[in-house]
Amino acid sequence: MAWYKVLKDGVMKDGDLFKSRIGDKEILIVKDGSNYFATSLYCTHEEYDLSEGFMDEHNLICPNHFATFNPRDGSVISPPESAGDISPLNSYRTKIENGEVLVEV
Ligand code: FES
Repeated sequence: MAWYKVLKDGVMKDGDLFKSRIGDKEILIVKDGSNYFATSLYCTHEEYDLSEGFMDEHNLICPNHFATFNPRDGSVISPPESAGDISPLNSYRTKIENGEVLVEV
């Protein structure tokens, strides 16, 4: 595991979603208030790109069939209607250092 710079602090606004690649991993950065969270990029239902999604009440929504995830730990809050269980997203630690947002991968 190592820390990687992904963007400058202050570039994203509250509720913004940002797509990043670190090596072979595609990562979603979520800004929620003053916090940054990082998860895997693709919805675990049908692999939809979650950077096309949106935040609602601190939750990450996939716009394809409205699966809802907790961006803090990647857990599933609710799967798409009638889809049954889906897997959580991978979750990565974040920190801010010298004005940069870093993700541990
Ligand atoms: S692909 Fe995300 S809810 Fe179906």
